[in-house]
Amino acid sequence: MIIFIVYLNFDQTWEIWNNAVRMNITNFVFLASQTPEAPLTTISTTEEPHWEDPGPFHVAYPRNYKFIMDDTPVCKTRDPFVILMVPVAPGEVKVRDAIRETWGNEKIVLGQVVDTLFILGRPGGADAEQVQEKLQQENQEHHDLIQSNFRDSYYNLTIKSLVMLEWLVANCKNSAYFIKIDSDTLLHVPNLVKLLLDPSTAKQNYMSGLVWWHSPVIRDSNNRFFLPPEIIAEPEYPPYPLGMAYVMSLDLPRKLLGISTQIKPIYIEDAYLGMCLKRLGISPTEPPAPGMYLVAPTHPLSNCSLSKAVVVMTTGIPLMKNYWERTKDPDLTC
Ligand SMILES: *[C@@H]1O[C@H](CO)[C@@H](O)[C@H](O)[C@H]1NC(C)=O
Ligand SMILES: *[C@@H]1O[C@H](CO)[C@@H](O)[C@H](O)[C@H]1NC(C)=O
Repeated sequence: MIIFIVYLNFDQTWEIWNNAVRMNITNFVFLASQTPEAPLTTISTTEEPHWEDPGPFHVAYPRNYKFIMDDTPVCKTRDPFVILMVPVAPGEVKVRDAIRETWGNEKIVLGQVVDTLFILGRPGGADAEQVQEKLQQENQEHHDLIQSNFRDSYYNLTIKSLVMLEWLVANCKNSAYFIKIDSDTLLHVPNLVKLLLDPSTAKQNYMSGLVWWHSPVIRDSNNRFFLPPEIIAEPEYPPYPLGMAYVMSLDLPRKLLGISTQIKPIYIEDAYLGMCLKRLGISPTEPPAPGMYLVAPTHPLSNCSLSKAVVVMTTGIPLMKNYWERTKDPDLTC
């Protein structure tokens, strides 16, 4: 969550500002009854639990969500040192292709294996079936989509992050780190790998990014991040790295999921992970130098700033590609 909001064009609104701009979800609603929910498991001897309505501030998690697409070889036939996990909306094929052509295509960096995966839910709306068919074709070509059967929407981002953790726990036992990174950013992969290989970077209980140490719980009911005291009594969230990009050691997903059963998931995904982290008694880690995670930089970035950055929020595909080209210049320095 980030509190200042900037209005951008529609294409950019989905993930930008740590996905701060909530989509108008009303147009998803009328078709909900036509889209089949997950088939109930038939081998279960117990009855399907009756799930309570999560209400306006929580999300429908846990539920018996299933992965309906995850035929990637990543973590199955090869073990990356770091996995780049990119939450995307189903229709964002242009963004995925741009990432596949740029930083998502960096597979061996400083001698380390790196892999990029996209995580998403199931499409909603009138064209859901066509979108799903296109996703299947896209995945047949790239084998890099991880899809769960929860309904993909801005409001459900917390579900997306939690099923992402589930997938990592189930599949990536031999990897060291992952980074969750929004799709409208530039990732400077060599700088990320350098940071993670540094002896001073913790190998366990490590969660870092742009850490918000004192983020207030918004009590103004007109604000899109409003949460009343009945939901969260404290005036501030525990510290958390901004959802734009957070990097974790791979021991943490299991611990976070374990503790999440004790804390009802709110719809603000990064603040929620901060709540879980606090309950685990773990503090997020500050980056070793300023300027590694840039959420609202003045564009265009100078050569010096770009040379030090790990993650840069961009204004869209053209700027992201431009920055990525510039990071390939061996002379890029301060
Ligand atoms: C979130 O996902 C759940 C599970 O698929 C679904 O029931 C709910 O309608 C979704 N919420 C929104 C706002 O899309
Ligand atoms: C950035 O570096 C490139 C070469 O690497 C150079 O051509 C360009 O002028 C530099 N830009 C600035 C603003 O210094």
